[in-house]
Amino acid sequence: MKVTVVGAGNVGATCANVLATREVANEVVLLDIKEGYAEGKALDIWETAPINLYDTRTVGSTNDYAKTAGSEVVVITSGLPRKPGMSRDDLIATNAGIVKTVTENVIKHSPDAKIIVVSNPLDVMTYCAYLNANMDSSKVFGMAGILDTARYRAFLAEALDVSPKDIQAVLMGGHGDTMVPLPRYTTVGGIPVTEMIDEEKLNAIVERTKKGGGEIVNLLGTSAWYAPGAAAAQMVEAIVRDQKRIFPVCAWLTGEYGLENIYLGVPVKLGKNGIEEIVELQLNDAEKALLDTSAKAVREVMDVLDNMNSVNA
Ligand code: NAI
Ligand code: 2OP
Repeated sequence: MKVTVVGAGNVGATCANVLATREVANEVVLLDIKEGYAEGKALDIWETAPINLYDTRTVGSTNDYAKTAGSEVVVITSGLPRKPGMSRDDLIATNAGIVKTVTENVIKHSPDAKIIVVSNPLDVMTYCAYLNANMDSSKVFGMAGILDTARYRAFLAEALDVSPKDIQAVLMGGHGDTMVPLPRYTTVGGIPVTEMIDEEKLNAIVERTKKGGGEIVNLLGTSAWYAPGAAAAQMVEAIVRDQKRIFPVCAWLTGEYGLENIYLGVPVKLGKNGIEEIVELQLNDAEKALLDTSAKAVREVMDVLDNMNSVNA
């Protein structure tokens, strides 16, 4: 069973490394446009196998999609990352061109693949892949919610001095500053988080989570990769092992939460068929208002893409 990761940069190579280490697939193909780059990364990961004890073969490819043929899942990480001072939306024109070409090539060789988009601006690049894949939306979705929720869980674990394993949470909305962490759906070992932490500290953590991507960009001069790569690999694992896991995923909405024709982060069940169910939480008025604001921000960037496409048509 084969999984392909397009883009062998920071996020793509990390994702391939996690997939190999966890033996999620028999073969992981890493593809990049830069000559020899994916081959080098794939070889380095393969040479780790005797040390970390796994069998997964990692194969590199410089833009040769024949090597990706028959992939069960394809993760798209190709595209520019953010630099300090840039928003995710600043990346739209360049990354839309890249995601379009990559999606067309992927589908040619793996028509039944589930596609996980990671490239930014995430919600709109997922929409871009969907427009070019001509596939059911249950098979084209984006990774952001697992990462954003992981940041929220990590900050809470630190503040409460508890294991991050015991923090369960859900976060909805777009992958940007309007994302919607949901304290009402956050628990610590089954206990509502609101019984463990005062409101002021919780609000500060929610705000830090919303700017979590920018915090790393300011420290590193580029965006994060360990947590994003691991988050994408977790989605691949849920699909290939048919785990039916409940994750926040950027999904195409057709009326859920009163929203339609938009890609937005919502809780879903992820299994061998991709998105097998969109879970509809009973949001209160304040939570729904935050989700609507986030949807509005995503739709504005989707409109930018639609306008670019109509000019280029
Ligand atoms: P990077 O620059 O390290 O890697 C990107 C790779 O894509 C490069 O190796 C480049 O050669 C390759 N590439 C460019 N055009 C290509 C094409 N047409 N075909 C194949 N490969 C191509 O960047 P990094 O840090 O890996 O980030 C990748 C993307 O993921 C960025 O857009 C970044 O903003 C996004 N990202 C999204 C996150 C999320 O939560 N959804 C989290 C972190 C990053
Ligand atoms: C992140 O959240 C920039 O989307 C990237 O780390």
